[in-house]
Amino acid sequence: MDTDAGGVDIAAFDLMNLPDDFVPRAYDYFRALREGSPVHRNSDGSFVLTRYDDLVQVYRDPEVWSSDKRVDFKPKFGDSPLYEHHTTSIVFRDPPDHTRIRKLFQAAFTRKALAALEPRIHSLVDGYLDTFADRREMEVVADFSFKLPVEVVCDMLGVPASDRALIREWALLILGALEPVLSPEQFQAGCTAVEDFKAYLRDRIRERKANPGGGRPGEILTALIEAEEDGEKLTEIELLHQCIFLLNAGHETSTNMISHGVHEMLRNPGQVARLHADPALIEGTVEEILRYQAPIQINNRRAVRDTRVGGVAMPAGSMVHLMIGAANHDPAQFPDPETFDIGRRPNRHLSFGLGIHICAGNSLGRIEGQIAFGKLFARFPTLRLEGPARLSKRVRFREVTELRVAI
Ligand code: HEM
Repeated sequence: MDTDAGGVDIAAFDLMNLPDDFVPRAYDYFRALREGSPVHRNSDGSFVLTRYDDLVQVYRDPEVWSSDKRVDFKPKFGDSPLYEHHTTSIVFRDPPDHTRIRKLFQAAFTRKALAALEPRIHSLVDGYLDTFADRREMEVVADFSFKLPVEVVCDMLGVPASDRALIREWALLILGALEPVLSPEQFQAGCTAVEDFKAYLRDRIRERKANPGGGRPGEILTALIEAEEDGEKLTEIELLHQCIFLLNAGHETSTNMISHGVHEMLRNPGQVARLHADPALIEGTVEEILRYQAPIQINNRRAVRDTRVGGVAMPAGSMVHLMIGAANHDPAQFPDPETFDIGRRPNRHLSFGLGIHICAGNSLGRIEGQIAFGKLFARFPTLRLEGPARLSKRVRFREVTELRVAI
């Protein structure tokens, strides 16, 4: 048996059939893979990549490495609503479609548009913190980290934040369908969620079309509707799926960044004291949280021609799993990677990906984190963990489901 010192059986490792302790011990597995089998073959012929440099090579070469998921998702999803969604959204398209759709998103993510959102983020965070002031404890996910991103992204899209519970449920079902292994029940629930979400958005779009000036400045829904009305830039189906994708991508990820951030900071009280003494460290704090616990752990690409990664030949059609959490802990790029250090510089983590698909919302995610952590730890410098964070079994998203903290 090929076993490393930590007792991880690398030879038996298979992303399609993960051991029960994978999520809690993910970083042990990543280290063992990086050291013992950095280009690791799964039972289905795909490869798991865990070295920083190998991920960078793939991200930076979209001509060889395609994001188009039609080949992969046909056998998995058939002709279903999940197939329609996941093969239409921007993140799973290649140029020129990707370039066309990404351009339409730009208006929502300019410096000016984001600056206009900042006062709203400040006031939302202040509002949540006010409710903690006379409480003795909170559950971070429900009370804080879920609320902020979903409100912000609902504002951006122009959908009522009062529908956040619905949107969260749909997001979990639709993104959950991207897990390496999917049960028939999960598949069915994911398909229903896509159809319900489309019907819901059609109503919102109808309302906005009836009241075109009703959105707030920079509202992305208005920009996308205009592109759709233009005819050539976006079809109706594309419009619906970009909205679903934005609503999902914009909250699930930031929610987990905030939950993990509170957890890691409180596990390292010295870092909280450091931030308290020097609030200018807030940018580094957010970067280190993102590096340490990447909210998205896996991106995928498929080779369109024969190529090589990490010295291993890969024929055209090969699928790679880019293990972001593993690359972010690669000692070749991050000295002393298991140390959580808010002053770490440089900190070129891959939590937002890299290259043409780099997260369009990365500045927004960073702003949300800086405001949320900055205000939380300034106002409550003596927060204490009441227990470890509970993690879900999902592997593509590193998801905190519960985190109790004494105020
Ligand atoms: C901490 C929070 C976030 C993390 C960790 C994150 C992570 C990522 C990653 C890793 C990708 C690249 C996927 C790939 O290359 O295959 C991505 C793409 C994307 N993200 Fe984010 N994201 C975050 C927040 C947001 C927010 C707040 C929004 C919008 C409101 C957003 C919108 C997008 C979009 C539109 C793409 C697709 C870009 C493209 O394909 O060109 N993200 N994100």
